[in-house]
Amino acid sequence: MSDNVFIMDHPLIQHKVSLIRDVNTGVKEFRELVEEIAMLMGYEVTRNLPLKEVEIETPIAIAKTKVISGKKLAIVPILRAGLGMVDGMLKLIPAAKVGHIGLYRDPETLQPVEYYCKLPTDVEERDLIILDPMLATGGSASAAIEFIKQRGAANIKFMCLIAARAGVERLSKDHPDVEIYCAAVDEKLNDHAYIVPGLGDAGDRLFGTK
Ligand code: PRP
Ligand code: URA
Repeated sequence: MSDNVFIMDHPLIQHKVSLIRDVNTGVKEFRELVEEIAMLMGYEVTRNLPLKEVEIETPIAIAKTKVISGKKLAIVPILRAGLGMVDGMLKLIPAAKVGHIGLYRDPETLQPVEYYCKLPTDVEERDLIILDPMLATGGSASAAIEFIKQRGAANIKFMCLIAARAGVERLSKDHPDVEIYCAAVDEKLNDHAYIVPGLGDAGDRLFGTK
């Protein structure tokens, strides 16, 4: 695995990923778990945010202490399943702006089709975290990042719950500058390019559409 890939092995993340893989986990619980995992992963993804020292007056004295500095953040869910990760991330970074990119994977060609893109107007000045629970062939993530780069963004991280090895390889090749954060890397894809064992169709499980 290349060194731009980070697998989040925290026990709480691993436990919750096991629950979302379970076919018996219903829509409500699935949605809650995806939000919780996104928050736990967000904690790790933001670990290296730069800090600066400030002075704060406490009720007792002046404290030299630290606050986050550097560029502002934006999160960009890939519609639709990425929406399930937004609230978890916003609990950690409530001031982040939220862009949206709409892509679906054509079931015949497996190629991503863009149908929506609305990013913050100052996107080129922000650090971006792209959200999508699934990285399967990598086509959707790679295309989303390409569209976003074309709009001027430079510092981009990609955060997913379950990745397939093929998707990680594709994304690392297409965008070697993008760090990939995931909770699990599964070995293979089936004939319909679903991740095996994966968790099924993330959008359908989040929104109850199947
Ligand atoms: C899923 C998933 C990713 C994509 C991954 O979305 O949320 O965006 O597939 O597959 P890939 O790595 O092979 O491109 P889907 O196309 O099912 O759309 P949806 O979120 O609207 O259900
Ligand atoms: N999209 C999903 O939702 N699940 C997969 O396993 C692959 C693509």
